[in-house]
Amino acid sequence: MTRLCIKRLNGQTTDLDLTAAIYSIGRSAENDIVLDGGRVSRHHGRLERDGDSYAIVDLESHNGTFVNGMRIQQPARLNLGDEIGVGPHVLVYGPPAEAVTIPGPVTVSLEKDYAVLLSEATSVFQKASPAGEETRPPGAAQKEQRTLRLLFDLSNALSALYSVPEVSEKALDILLESTRAEQGAIFLLDEYRSLHLATVRVRNAPTDAHPIVELSSTIADRILKERKGILTADAATDDRFAHGYSVVVRQLRSLACAPLLGKSGDLGILYLENNKSIGAFTREDLSLLCAVASQIGLAIENARFFDALKRTNEELEQIVEERTAALRETQLKLFQTEKMAALSRLVAGVAHEINNPLGALRSNLDLLIQMFGRAATSPGRQPEEAALFENLTSLGQTSLLACGRIGAVVRSLTAFVRLDQAEFKPASLNDGVQTVLQLMGPSVRQGIRLTTRLGDLPEIPCYPALLNQALMHLIENACQAIKQSGEVTIETLRQGDYAVIRIHDTGRGIPKEHLPRIFEPGFTTKGVGVGVGMGLAVAQRIIQEHHGTIDVESEVDQGCLVTIHLPLAGN
Ligand SMILES: Nc1ncnc2c1ncn2[C@@H]1O[C@H](COP(=O)(O)OP(=O)(O)OP(=O)(O)O)[C@@H](O)[C@H]1O
Ligand SMILES: [Mg+2]
Repeated sequence: MTRLCIKRLNGQTTDLDLTAAIYSIGRSAENDIVLDGGRVSRHHGRLERDGDSYAIVDLESHNGTFVNGMRIQQPARLNLGDEIGVGPHVLVYGPPAEAVTIPGPVTVSLEKDYAVLLSEATSVFQKASPAGEETRPPGAAQKEQRTLRLLFDLSNALSALYSVPEVSEKALDILLESTRAEQGAIFLLDEYRSLHLATVRVRNAPTDAHPIVELSSTIADRILKERKGILTADAATDDRFAHGYSVVVRQLRSLACAPLLGKSGDLGILYLENNKSIGAFTREDLSLLCAVASQIGLAIENARFFDALKRTNEELEQIVEERTAALRETQLKLFQTEKMAALSRLVAGVAHEINNPLGALRSNLDLLIQMFGRAATSPGRQPEEAALFENLTSLGQTSLLACGRIGAVVRSLTAFVRLDQAEFKPASLNDGVQTVLQLMGPSVRQGIRLTTRLGDLPEIPCYPALLNQALMHLIENACQAIKQSGEVTIETLRQGDYAVIRIHDTGRGIPKEHLPRIFEPGFTTKGVGVGVGMGLAVAQRIIQEHHGTIDVESEVDQGCLVTIHLPLAGN
């Protein structure tokens, strides 16, 4: 059987025979092993049986769980003799030298540790003093106990606080409880070394009170200069301070102040006052105040570091968010540019391959038509032969028309990618709409009626190829939204300094909850192989590049209206 030896701060041990499969550890009373103290989380960790041994698991505690001094990131299997650190407690896994077994839940309380510490300190003190010989002033032991208690409480409380106001308030509350101070304050130095009242606490003050404490500049200067605590039984009659303005005006009596010193230098002043009594503070109070001040100084410094760390973290998170957004933007641009480049290459190759034979076909047909025409009308030609040649001429003309159609399709293709217009230049939006429709026309499903209402628009400076691409994505969406039959209307018009393009469809519409997401790259409701969710994202990007806006209004089963505004001036 294995045991857990719980070592308390004073060196005493409490042992627990490990028989159950799981032991919960934490500050909360429901735990099997209850450990208190500021650095122990309510549900801190768990001891779990792992084969013939146990493993320690940290339950995302604030201050972590340690095995042999190393903070664990995942369950750690224990070997005999391993030391588990939980807050200020050490739990040793394995049989201790002289184990005392206590059944049931075990509570290790810092309060109890403190009591044991005190009783030990007192017994040591009593042993050191021979019986009957009182070598120390009466009450000295109590004072020491009080000092010890105060420092202990303070360090315990401050270790769990990470903000300067919390640290200051807690420290002042403990000081008001432990001394005869009527009020206490903490003054902090700013970057220009000016003192500012940071926190003030008044004995028995209502919670909504906003008391103000003024620190005599004579006293403040002296403390900061000498870096020592100051005590006065009656400031009004103390030669050092009696002439000070606030000493006179506020009729200050008993004061005790100490400098707040951190590792990085002076931080401020810790100040206690009691204006009701003379001599409210003793020399011991002053030593205590100096000891407390050094603890508060460190805690304030830690809190500031923590705060700086938190801010740096927030800044880092912000940077990561910005970089992620920029990356997404670049991805989108890349996607769009690559898609366009691939299409351009394809179109350029196809156009070249078609145009060359088409040229030959056309000139041959021209020649044949001329020859058949001449042959049909040559003198002495038999009527049947003449009719044959006329038929052949007419066939040649039909073939020439077909060649013209092929030429028009090739021209549309090149116009769509605007191989000749890749740069920023004035172009007609209406021409763009027509080119896109000419290209898409043959692939539009039966039952979809494409209508255009093209208004009077001047040419606008733009990247024509990109705008065509945006239009194609939008018209494609409109057609895909129509279930069986319906209408897609493309309208252009001028509104003040803007060219407006409206693409309206009578399709299935967009549910309200989808509307905020439709421009997200990758958002699609279409099946696999139908959509990749890039159409609207690319269109939006292109319109934004032209300093325009794109808006979508839609309701389920009520169709969809996409409105684009583009500045006529191009910016
Ligand atoms: N006119 C429309 N009617 C109904 N829903 C639409 C319309 N336009 C866009 N949507 C909705 O917005 C989503 C995103 O559209 P987007 O064009 O970005 O991607 P996609 O059409 O799904 O795929 P891709 O365009 O990349 O082939 C669509 O999946 C669809 O749900
Ligand atoms: Mg689409």
